[in-house]
Amino acid sequence: MTDVRIIEMGPRDGLQNEKTPISVADRIAFVERLVDAGLRTVEVGAFVSPKAIPQMVGSDEVLRSVGHIGNAEFHVLVPNEKGYEAARGAGAKVVSVFAAASEGFSRANINCSIAESIERFKPVLARARADGLKVRGYVSCVLGCPFDGEIRPQAVADVAGKLWELGCYEISLGDTIGVGTPLKAKQMLRAVADHVPAGNLAMHFHDTYGQALANLYAGMEEGIHVLDAAAGGLGGCPYAPGATGNVATEDVVYMLEGMGIRTGVDMEKLLAATNEISRLLGRPPVSRVATALNAKKRRAVT
Ligand code: HMG
Ligand code: MG
Repeated sequence: MTDVRIIEMGPRDGLQNEKTPISVADRIAFVERLVDAGLRTVEVGAFVSPKAIPQMVGSDEVLRSVGHIGNAEFHVLVPNEKGYEAARGAGAKVVSVFAAASEGFSRANINCSIAESIERFKPVLARARADGLKVRGYVSCVLGCPFDGEIRPQAVADVAGKLWELGCYEISLGDTIGVGTPLKAKQMLRAVADHVPAGNLAMHFHDTYGQALANLYAGMEEGIHVLDAAAGGLGGCPYAPGATGNVATEDVVYMLEGMGIRTGVDMEKLLAATNEISRLLGRPPVSRVATALNAKKRRAVT
């Protein structure tokens, strides 16, 4: 496999659960740094309830400010028509709807059942089609749920298949709480690939148990070449207790480049983006590669 696409999650998934407030100006600068580092697709915000996720307030300003940057695609989350309208008003070209493979998480995250969420997405997809916007679909809790426990691969396949039938161009499969292991991931991905072509699937793995890179590698062996990742390993969902961040973009880039897969990402610039957002958050990045490279830099100056 030589053609891999990274979807950068830092400004959305990465920041949505942070206690330290990050200003809109700093969020914009973060996106700009990531694009400058070579990340060509960045999820920059969410048009969700400000009561639910105050960290994403101002996503319209973020999107408006970065929208003009050529050679990059910006994604935003929309849970319903209200979110769609706001995203479209801010110039969105790609929106993402988000469902779950478990009833418990669907209820906690978006306050409705899985079936109701699919009904909510229908008008969003219809309007996006009419307006010429692309819609990405997420399925959360594909390898385990904080409320419902084990998730059957078929349950994931059913929801992914519905989003695909609705017209999502790509379905991103979220191990929201990062509990998956490679063989389970393969089993789940094979079940989904019976309903959605592997070429239209993406992997969105959180790294809570340190398995995300191994799971991504397993998925790449199944022909999946779109990988969601967040600079610095930032991220988490307020409705997924105990879950930590997305797999770190630096770690993914290091692995891919080591496999001879060109990512187009400048590691130095990515590290600078990670270090700057970490400085604003007041703690060092958790990613292994950022930690190693920062330590190497410190050794070089002493
Ligand atoms: P609800 O309470 O059922 O909705 O929430 P409602 O229609 O009854 O509206 C309630 C209030 O929210 C009203 O305001 C609406 O106007 C407002 P009030 O009258 O109380 O002042 N509202 C909105 N405001 C702004 N934008 C909107 C919007 N919709 C309604 N689009 C809702 C349902 C989905 C809105 C709510 O539960 C919500 O916003 N949840 C946030 C979910 C979220 O953002 N979760 C994190 C992202 S998902 C994730 O991280 C997983 C992922 O990374 C993949 C993975 O890791 O698995 C993608
Ligand atoms: Mg996530």
